[in-house]
Amino acid sequence: MGKMSQDFIDLEAKYGAHNYHPLPVVLDKGEGAFVWDVEGKKYFDFLSAYSAVNQGHCHPKIVGALTEQAQKLTLTSRAFYNSSLGPYEKYITEYFGYDKVLPMNTGAEADETALKLARRWGVVKKGIPNDDVMIVCCSGNFHGRTITIITMSDDPDSYANYGPLTPGFIRIPYNDTNALEKVLEEHGKKIAGFILEPIQGEAGVYVPDEGYLKKCYDICKKHNVLFIADEVQTGIARTGKLLACDHESVRPDVLILGKALSGGVIPVSAVLADDDIMLTIKPGEHGSTFGGFPLACKVAVAALEVVKEEKLAEKAEHLGKIFREEMSSIKSDMIELVRGKGLLNAVVIRNKGDKTAWDVCLEMKEQGVLAKPTHGNIIRFAPPLVITEEQLREAMELIKKAFKKFE
Ligand SMILES: Cc1ncc(COP(=O)(O)O)c(C=O)c1O
Repeated sequence: MGKMSQDFIDLEAKYGAHNYHPLPVVLDKGEGAFVWDVEGKKYFDFLSAYSAVNQGHCHPKIVGALTEQAQKLTLTSRAFYNSSLGPYEKYITEYFGYDKVLPMNTGAEADETALKLARRWGVVKKGIPNDDVMIVCCSGNFHGRTITIITMSDDPDSYANYGPLTPGFIRIPYNDTNALEKVLEEHGKKIAGFILEPIQGEAGVYVPDEGYLKKCYDICKKHNVLFIADEVQTGIARTGKLLACDHESVRPDVLILGKALSGGVIPVSAVLADDDIMLTIKPGEHGSTFGGFPLACKVAVAALEVVKEEKLAEKAEHLGKIFREEMSSIKSDMIELVRGKGLLNAVVIRNKGDKTAWDVCLEMKEQGVLAKPTHGNIIRFAPPLVITEEQLREAMELIKKAFKKFE
């Protein structure tokens, strides 16, 4: 690592909160599937900012929309109407097939919004007494970092020593329809919603059994419980369909999007639902200064257009198969398991002596591929969806070289 990189790392260590543990690489520039460090070394980005940069770094169309709008009008607040929000709302609701959208900024905010919406619907439509409303969530979930959201987590790194948490949640095992059936049989009258990730990204790309989503949806319907899909990481073409729920033709009652909704340009998130649910929140009862700001609206439309124009879902489906084939063909006793869908994949690493997934990532970085362990021994591989087949195959060769170093 060069001196310049070390200087930047030292600055972050001295002046920034120590709430992350980054790989020792300092990035300075990005284009498509590539990023460059401050010394000018080029890397394949196999993280895509946790699937926010599905459309590739600095996509010209999205950056174009950003810069054009940035010179005209950036923020109005929702105290006034603006000429970008209505057209965006029409575009995104037609795109995903819902009556209404509620715009927010980060994934966590959109998740909070979905929880509030479900609770509100539970009280005013389902008739649950206000203090009794429950939401069901899954073990191994990751929905963000607010106090209420970490309440749902079973990872002590997320929730421990942050004081009292938020009441009103029941956690059941993931990928277990019997557990859902049981909890709704027992407490269904008090349950407003069931929130889940169609594939658990942060937990290590856990893909549930085929039919899980549909079965859960049907159980929810039977008990008049909202099926809430957190597609912040899995949505927007990442898994080979526009939404991961599309693999099982499930239409969530409440759909949560973030990350790639802006192509990684600015924070843009959204909650989509039909009128019966969305209109239970009235003026003044929820919001955000930046939610639905003109810059976000223009960027999101451009980002969603790119997904269709460049057929990113189809590409993810096709390239994902190649990735898993190639990865499975690597002869290394450190590779325990390869799993994933589309271009959201993970490799479970078997430690070799004192060598762990972290060491594999350091070696891949040397070879020119950036990826990071998620939860200890699992490495997530999620390149921008604009990566070409040729580029992917080139990256696979570098990954193979990295694994060879541990033979
Ligand atoms: C499924 C899921 N939901 C929510 C979030 C939180 O998004 P943000 O970091 O933008 O708050 C993430 C982030 O990784 C996520 O993967």
